[in-house]
Amino acid sequence: MKNRPIPHTSLEVSPICLGTMTFGTPVAEPEAVRMVHWATDQGINFIDTANVYEGYQRFLGSAGGVAEEILGKALAGRRQQVVLATKVGNPNGPGPDDRGLGHTHILRECDRSLARLKTDSIDIYYMHRPDPQTPIATSIASFAELIKAGKVRHWGLSNFDASQTREILTLCDSHGWPRPVMHQPPYSLLQRQIEVDLLPLCRQEQIAVVPYQVLQSGLLTGKYQQSAELPPDSRAAEKPEWLPQLKIQQTRDQLHALESQAQAAGLNLYTYTIKTTIATPGITSIILGVKNIGQVESAIRALAATGI
Ligand SMILES: NC(=O)c1ccc[n+]([C@@H]2O[C@H](COP(=O)([O-])OP(=O)(O)OC[C@H]3O[C@@H](n4cnc5c(N)ncnc54)[C@H](OP(=O)(O)O)[C@@H]3O)[C@@H](O)[C@H]2O)c1
Repeated sequence: MKNRPIPHTSLEVSPICLGTMTFGTPVAEPEAVRMVHWATDQGINFIDTANVYEGYQRFLGSAGGVAEEILGKALAGRRQQVVLATKVGNPNGPGPDDRGLGHTHILRECDRSLARLKTDSIDIYYMHRPDPQTPIATSIASFAELIKAGKVRHWGLSNFDASQTREILTLCDSHGWPRPVMHQPPYSLLQRQIEVDLLPLCRQEQIAVVPYQVLQSGLLTGKYQQSAELPPDSRAAEKPEWLPQLKIQQTRDQLHALESQAQAAGLNLYTYTIKTTIATPGITSIILGVKNIGQVESAIRALAATGI
């Protein structure tokens, strides 16, 4: 696996980034720790988490923290080997300061993430999503403060569109604040909206794009077409709210079309998905959600088959 540089930083990341949204449930702590160790031993040096991740237990406003706690334990003695990304902004409590991108919430959550992750600094700190209640300049200034304090090395955006990104870049340049170096949008062969404007903008501005939902919650692994029955240990069976697209006929039609394209390329749908996504210009690394070491192994094998 050849690492790829993140422009405007000294960091290089593996083309596969380990997603941790399933840490807690269905991936219990011992398996999650084994998975992190196994993945880093294989050369995956990029890990994505968020202050709110706690697996299937998560609901809007729940406290979160579980995935970061597990990572803090898993990375004992390995912290320097990885580029660690986490996020702030989603609701994690009932109070007015328990959500969003206001100064109080950002600074408090950063300290909590550092404590749970057992680290002195976060390599990439993302704004998890836009907060319409807070002027974006306040949020950027808070991130700049964290960078100045050494608690964060670089920052990024998740779920922001191209026009919001342009506004942020203008503000950074006019105030002398550090620019975001990374973007984390949803992107897969089934949802390609970012190709219209966000991806070209990021290429032009040299912002690394690291998409999530690349496997579309498992749909693009091909496992749901193989049988009419839902695989019993699959997300569709265990947590159907996280896979609403399964029931949409248009999605099923798109999947059949992609299966044919994969076949024509001599690949299965899963390998075709990984190959096509990682080869898209502007995409630095792809975040993969995983439930067990076998799925990490499949990802590494698929990547090897692509020659990347
Ligand atoms: N920034 C954001 O707003 C945001 C939002 C969501 C996620 N994320 C990040 O992106 C990561 C991935 O998101 P995601 O889990 O929703 O999407 P995903 O990567 O599209 O789907 C992951 C799921 O697909 C299935 N899968 C993976 N590899 C497989 C294989 N080889 N064979 C069969 N099934 C396989 C697994 O589910 P089953 O085995 O249970 O079916 C796995 O949990 C998260 O962990 C998180 O770090 C970010």
